[in-house]
Amino acid sequence: MNILGIESSCDETAAAVVENGTKILSNIVASSADMHAESGGIIPENAARQQIKSIIPVITSALEKAKINNEKIEAIAVTSGPGLIGSLLVGIETAKTLSLLWNKPIIPVNHLSAHIYANWLSDKKSPEFPALALVVSGGHTDIVLMKDHGKLEWIGGTRDDAAGEAFDKTARLLGLPYPGGPAISIEAEKYMTKNPKTKLSFFPRPIINEKNYDWSFSGLKTAVLNEVKDRELNNEEKQKIAAEVQEAIVDVLIKKTLRAVQEYKPKSLLLAGGVAANIRLKEKFESAISEHVGKINLFVPPIKLCTDNAAYIASFAYFNHSPVPWQKINANPQLTITGQV
Ligand code: KG4
Ligand code: ZN
Repeated sequence: MNILGIESSCDETAAAVVENGTKILSNIVASSADMHAESGGIIPENAARQQIKSIIPVITSALEKAKINNEKIEAIAVTSGPGLIGSLLVGIETAKTLSLLWNKPIIPVNHLSAHIYANWLSDKKSPEFPALALVVSGGHTDIVLMKDHGKLEWIGGTRDDAAGEAFDKTARLLGLPYPGGPAISIEAEKYMTKNPKTKLSFFPRPIINEKNYDWSFSGLKTAVLNEVKDRELNNEEKQKIAAEVQEAIVDVLIKKTLRAVQEYKPKSLLLAGGVAANIRLKEKFESAISEHVGKINLFVPPIKLCTDNAAYIASFAYFNHSPVPWQKINANPQLTITGQV
């Protein structure tokens, strides 16, 4: 079954054709991140305007790249939330129109739980259930227990800023470009290469020892602000702070996730969301999980499937096939990972 996925929840406009939920026939992403880099962050109206410009060319190019026409598409999957209302509406209205014109079913998709499906889009064997999924994106940080497709139980999350937001906001304080995650990790890498033995433990790790699966990242922003205010940092100092910030975020994500692994004993641990593109996070997870070898498989999607794209939207729709009449699909900017509006 070929599904056309459409994603427009934030600053990426994306379309993909995926066969049977696992094989990517095409995956096209147009990003307006460069424009937001100039303004230092996303201005929602500008993001929505850019969505309007990109949506049809992106869908056309996804069909062309997959060498497929609309007759061979069996369903249309579209992100219905969470996200920026203006951006979401562009994808949703386009999907509804195509559904009507082509007479195809339409499947509304929760962007957050869909991120997890980047782990089904590889040649490796698929994750086994029960699985624990850590979803770390720009706006959300959640850990969920997946007993099966469609059976998600939320077990913890951030109490304030998301992990990606912590990267973005501290990068801004350091004068690094948006999006902050990749920028911080590049600077951090420079510091760690020059100082491989230095222990990175400068910033606090809030609530790391609490017996729950929650995080708090807003204090990190304040701690960085206190370090940088009224100072002119040289490159070396910036790189050191970037390395310390990255380590603080990575450490707390790993510690709480491993707690959950110990309690729930899943067969698979799945990382997902833009922050899962972070190499340090991946490497430290790989080494932490090596103690559990034989009991659990760690899945980390390739970098370009971690950040927003439509391939995982189509994959989610295949494994959670629940078409609804196009008249009933609405944008839900506040949707949670388990589907609460
Ligand atoms: O999942 P995503 O592409 O969009 C949302 O759904 O939010 O996540 C975007 C977030 C941004 O905060 C960005 O800074 C972060 O993912 N990110 C990274 C890296 N690449 C993207 N964070 C840390 N390290 C990276 N390499
Ligand atoms: Zn996302």
